[in-house]
Amino acid sequence: MRIGILGSGLMGGKLGTVFARAGHEVVFSYARSRQTLTRLARAAKGRARAGTPADAARDADALLLAVHWSRIDDVLKQAGDVSGKVIVSCSLPMNHDDTKLVVAHTSSGAEVLARKVRRAHVVAAFSTVPSEVLFDVFAAPRKTRRPSLAYCGEDEDAKEVAAGLIRDVGFDPVDAGPLRIARYIEPFSLLVAQLAYEGKGGPELAYRFERYRRM
Ligand SMILES: NC(=O)c1ccc[n+]([C@@H]2O[C@H](COP(=O)([O-])OP(=O)(O)OC[C@H]3O[C@@H](n4cnc5c(N)ncnc54)[C@H](OP(=O)(O)O)[C@@H]3O)[C@@H](O)[C@H]2O)c1
Repeated sequence: MRIGILGSGLMGGKLGTVFARAGHEVVFSYARSRQTLTRLARAAKGRARAGTPADAARDADALLLAVHWSRIDDVLKQAGDVSGKVIVSCSLPMNHDDTKLVVAHTSSGAEVLARKVRRAHVVAAFSTVPSEVLFDVFAAPRKTRRPSLAYCGEDEDAKEVAAGLIRDVGFDPVDAGPLRIARYIEPFSLLVAQLAYEGKGGPELAYRFERYRRM
């Protein structure tokens, strides 16, 4: 597939790299310096290149949205027409200093996003993992049991695309249902981040649920 990365930081940079190494054609876009995007494309060692958000969106089979909540409108404006596109979003609706969700309880960032891009197909995925574990999950032998990763959305075809990408990274995709389920996933993602970055165990803690199940 051709995958446009909208936001090439910790999440977008790593996921885009993994997608390229899994054989997809990737366009890295949206960083403050073009050098960052060129460096990422070169290091990905697959069919990857640097571009603008409009380049990333053009002819893309899927777009990964991986920007801070405050940058969503700007990156979408730069991407242009995303009608009919599959948008896989890991972006959490956080406030400026990342201390709390600005959309919660009765809605979710994923639902707000879907209302902004009514003609696109939004799937919420990847927000439950810290970026630091992505390369390790991708490198893990495929024979071992895969960690699971929940995703949700309304459009079944779009969800199938997202599930394929989740598998490519090395996770076992778990269909969590319609987009409104993101109301529960987003606070969970925050808990994982809290455990990973403010607890003592680091990103590995995100997998404690998985390990617990295996015991
Ligand atoms: N990091 C995680 O482990 C994690 C886990 C789950 C969910 N998330 C969610 O994923 C989303 C992305 O997080 P992240 O950690 O990947 O963020 P990040 O590292 O800050 O990446 C955001 C990207 O947006 C770019 N950007 C910011 N302002 C810009 C501007 N004015 N013009 C052009 N580009 C700009 C950044 O450019 P620069 O590279 O130049 O800064 C960077 O490439 C967030 O919504 C977050 O809540 C993150």
